[in-house]
Amino acid sequence: MKLVGDVEIENLEKLRSGKVREMFSLDDRILIVTTDRISAFDFILPSLIPLKGIILNKISVFWFNYLKDVIDNHLIESDVGRFPKFLKRYKDTLSGRSIIVKKVKIYPIECVVRGYITGSGLEEYKKTGMIGDLKLPRNLSKCDRLPEAIFTPTTKEVSGHDVAITINKAKKIFGAEMIEFLKKKSIELYMKASEYAIRQGIIIADTKFEFGITDDKIILADEALTPDSSRFWPLDEYVPGREQKSFDKQYVRDYLLSTNWDRRSTPPELPHDVVEKTSERYIAAYEKIVVEKFKV
Ligand SMILES: Nc1ncnc2c1ncn2[C@@H]1O[C@H](COP(=O)(O)OP(=O)(O)OP(=O)(O)O)[C@@H](O)[C@H]1O
Ligand SMILES: [Mg+2]
Repeated sequence: MKLVGDVEIENLEKLRSGKVREMFSLDDRILIVTTDRISAFDFILPSLIPLKGIILNKISVFWFNYLKDVIDNHLIESDVGRFPKFLKRYKDTLSGRSIIVKKVKIYPIECVVRGYITGSGLEEYKKTGMIGDLKLPRNLSKCDRLPEAIFTPTTKEVSGHDVAITINKAKKIFGAEMIEFLKKKSIELYMKASEYAIRQGIIIADTKFEFGITDDKIILADEALTPDSSRFWPLDEYVPGREQKSFDKQYVRDYLLSTNWDRRSTPPELPHDVVEKTSERYIAAYEKIVVEKFKV
């Protein structure tokens, strides 16, 4: 299978090149191509992971379908055979890893939902007993499940890190009704997906949604519940009170931490076995979520 790092398509304007995905303008639609790039510690690594882009794209498409009763989404077409004819000659590059979506005006708030306490949420809780303006029970320890899923939005920064924002402040900026709507939908999406995932052996500890506006309707956009936008933990290895293993990037993180890379300069290449094992982890994630043998 072809590895895909950079993507260029003649006569299509590239709107954006993210850490992992490339977005191209297609009149009032967007072509999103998920590459095999991988990031860790906020860096794009020099190595590509075979099949990663295909798997991430297919996981997102699975969730868009599974969750469409909660809210409509931007997906128009995921079958490359039905893409516009002029894209035919890029079939090898695009197949399995591309979708055509409705172009929307993205709502500038990242809708984070947390079902477990970890990462920046845990740091904040340790200092204040709260996350944003939400008071949490005392004595929660690292990676504990929260009594109920919480909505902890961040701003969407053009460059640099997104900044946490309290729900009250978000309401002042974006309007109470809008924030209530985004909160309700985000939590519903998370609940439906995480209840499904746990039956397949995956804990979705937290995730991030982006919504956009089209024809005056709010729909789910961007990617949905992939290992890139969420923390996936293997259920059979879950032990609260300590750091959890990451479903997909554990080998990568372990390897990088074992080197003398300073986390400021260009990261090192990953050894072959780390690449292979990571690719296998993505395949395992796909097979658990989609409940189907992965084939290309
Ligand atoms: N349907 C859509 N219409 C318009 N913009 C969209 C749509 N879906 C997603 N986007 C936007 O496209 C961009 C995708 O960028 P991408 O996720 O690849 O990079 P990023 O978010 O900047 O960085 P990262 O690699 O860390 O995710 C995001 O800004 C997202 O809000
Ligand atoms: Mg993104």
